[in-house]
Amino acid sequence: MTNPALRVSNLIKDFGGLRAVDKISFQVGTGEFVGLIGPNGCGKTTTFNCISGMLNMTAGKVEVLGQNATGMRPDEIQKMGLTRTFQHTWLWRDMTVIENLLVPTRRQFSPNPILALLRPNSRKSEDKRITEAYAVLDLLEISHIAHNLASELSGGQSKLVDIGRALMSSPQFLLLDEPVAGVAGPLAERIFQNLRSLTSDKGISMLVIEHNMDFILRRDVDRIIVMEAGQILTEGTPDEIRQSRDVVEAYLGDPGETK
Ligand SMILES: Nc1ncnc2c1ncn2[C@@H]1O[C@H](COP(=O)(O)OP(=O)(O)O)[C@@H](O)[C@H]1O
Ligand SMILES: [Mg+2]
Repeated sequence: MTNPALRVSNLIKDFGGLRAVDKISFQVGTGEFVGLIGPNGCGKTTTFNCISGMLNMTAGKVEVLGQNATGMRPDEIQKMGLTRTFQHTWLWRDMTVIENLLVPTRRQFSPNPILALLRPNSRKSEDKRITEAYAVLDLLEISHIAHNLASELSGGQSKLVDIGRALMSSPQFLLLDEPVAGVAGPLAERIFQNLRSLTSDKGISMLVIEHNMDFILRRDVDRIIVMEAGQILTEGTPDEIRQSRDVVEAYLGDPGETK
């Protein structure tokens, strides 16, 4: 991989005496769709938090789209083209779905959504954003809830709106933390297919956390990185992972994760 979209080198994250991420290195190529899996508590979300600048890493280096992102703030990393979603979705509850998408994601970290909405915009770019927002809802198959309040949504629907919000920032790299947790089976499969086509059609690179091994093995991902106890146990194509005894044993030791 000569020009990876994401390069993580020797990343370590300690929480006091607990080493949550233990010197991991991996890369994601441009336009690649990669799954990050592993049992609960193995360090997946912490890895995302370090990459996206939400947590200071203890040691290591992160490069995003060719730029050094080590020690940068979340908003600086987002400007580089990397957007993330969170395992625990947070939406503006008193706003509709479409309004949630229209809050500029550049202000994802702003405490005041109203100020974000009042940013001076020409009518033309506003119309363009509204058209884009509806297209994103179509892609995620949730156009029918465009005018529902976020507070009325199911957990699965909230996840989808959150992905939609991430897509509104036109990211070049997306980190998705359990994007289909709580989404019903057939819809979860279609969403994965749609995310897949985003990588193929628009060249967006994606790293997607999924805790269900069976589910990810049946998806059309390019590669799977398997974490266990803060380390990378193995990585490979779904076929390679299926044949890897280490992985099967790690999961057999934790049957709750295989569902
Ligand atoms: N902010 C934090 N403070 C202290 N410990 C944390 C914090 N975040 C995560 N941990 C611990 O780090 C380990 C990895 O957690 P996490 O990255 O959330 O795992 P995963 O996403 O794979 O389920 C766990 O033992 C967890 O309890
Ligand atoms: Mg997690």
